[in-house]
Amino acid sequence: MRHPLPFAAAALLLPAATAALAGQSATKPVPNGKALFTEKCAMCHGPNGMGTGLLDRRVKPALLEERTDLTADYVIQAARTGIGNMPAIPRGEASDAQIKAIADYLGRGK
Ligand code: HEC
Repeated sequence: MRHPLPFAAAALLLPAATAALAGQSATKPVPNGKALFTEKCAMCHGPNGMGTGLLDRRVKPALLEERTDLTADYVIQAARTGIGNMPAIPRGEASDAQIKAIADYLGRGK
């Protein structure tokens, strides 16, 4: 005789999956933001980068990773449109999702 146990099991698992999704918060640091920053930005924004060198003339600390005033929106805009001597980063080089992860990392949830 067959009984509907698989259905009962699915009904029990579904609420758990929904709760796990709801637990994700927008301000949670994105795990790969730092790695992406190293890959896409650190050649100019590392300790010896020309971005760091130029920023040092107008903002302290010059290292983006040490800043506490950056917002994610500002970082996204700088990366997408360019700023001063920084060229815009094309989508072929870094996707919107990648830029957002970097921006969340540098903006620390702001
Ligand atoms: C080719 C070198 C280069 C790369 C690559 C680069 N930047 Fe920049 N970035 C600069 C320079 C140079 C400046 C300073 C612009 C100026 O003030 O003239 C700058 C400035 C900025 C600023 C403005 C900071 C401020 O206080 O106004 C942000 C934000 C920024 N970069 C984010 C990024 C991010 C995020 C990435 C990687 C996705 C990135 N940059 C990659 C060269 C670069």
